[in-house]
Amino acid sequence: MKFNQSNIKKAKKYLDKNYCIGVPTETVYGLAANAYSNQAVQKIYKLKKRPKSNPLIVHYYGINDLKKDCLFNKNFLKLYKKFSPGPITYILNLTKNSKISKIVTNKKNNLAVRFPKHKIFRKLLRKLDYPLAAPSANISSKLSAVQSSDIKEDFGNKIKYILDGGKSNIGLESTIIDLRKKPKILRLGGLETSKIKKILSTKIRISINPKKQIAPGQSKLHYSPGIPLKMNFKKILRKNIKKSIINEAYVFIKRKKNNHSNFFYLSKKGDLREAAKNLYTCLRKIKNRGYKQIYVEKIPNFGLGKAINDRLIKASKY
Ligand code: TXA
Ligand code: MG
Repeated sequence: MKFNQSNIKKAKKYLDKNYCIGVPTETVYGLAANAYSNQAVQKIYKLKKRPKSNPLIVHYYGINDLKKDCLFNKNFLKLYKKFSPGPITYILNLTKNSKISKIVTNKKNNLAVRFPKHKIFRKLLRKLDYPLAAPSANISSKLSAVQSSDIKEDFGNKIKYILDGGKSNIGLESTIIDLRKKPKILRLGGLETSKIKKILSTKIRISINPKKQIAPGQSKLHYSPGIPLKMNFKKILRKNIKKSIINEAYVFIKRKKNNHSNFFYLSKKGDLREAAKNLYTCLRKIKNRGYKQIYVEKIPNFGLGKAINDRLIKASKY
């Protein structure tokens, strides 16, 4: 994707006026606004129909900009050095003098922070004198957006501007890790947990479906294509395919020899990285073609497959 200076200027102009805009990141597109402004971040909640209790991730260019808002610790510095900018979000305590809007944090004293890698987004962040609160650019509980046309599909002309950065390279949201005490993963995502484990010498807990929800995206229906989805189908009988061809879509991890119009595949050869990148686009396509039911083949549960399965489990709570 070509970077265009005048688009960055335009994006900055809207943000300076406290509007929300669409921004590209390497994980998924974000719906961004000035994280220091109550007026600006309120618009995010309204547009997304997001419950006020659900806090937002704030995006920074680099660690120097974060100093005034959050308290650092050893684990954060280790992970930052290795993985940021990139698909990892840290939960840290706020400083006393932090200017982050209370609406962003739902009045709590901690903040989710991320340093995105997407070149165009970074060029924008560098030009601003405030960080950007940006949840995924979709209506609450629905499929995330991985290209500007997805945002248009969900919000029409309700959003002032979308900074186009092509298709998101990873296609799944960031991995979230709470670093306030013992490291705890709150959401599986674009950075594999095994890679994080290698860097931290302490144990990491995985707490993605806790009884007491910390992150509202952690349990109930989420990432939903808006039609029922069933996981792990094993065998499809030919007669079923023919009988239900109009209503049912089948998603495979790799391309099949015998293709049908209601067969979709996430990757040519079963590569999990490619599958992650294509997941939301594939589900969107199926929904838009009018299918009434989605069946997804069993996805290997390692590496990025774990994050893909996490999204599918939540999408299947329809
Ligand atoms: O990749 C991503 O993380 C994308 C891009 C745009 O950066 N953003 C994203 O934001 O996925 P969102 O709002 O769709 O998901 C953020 C999740 C939510 O489940 C929210 O509850 C949780 O992070 N969260 C936000 N602040 C938190 C906090 N202080 N403590 C615990 N969880 C938090
Ligand atoms: Mg989201």
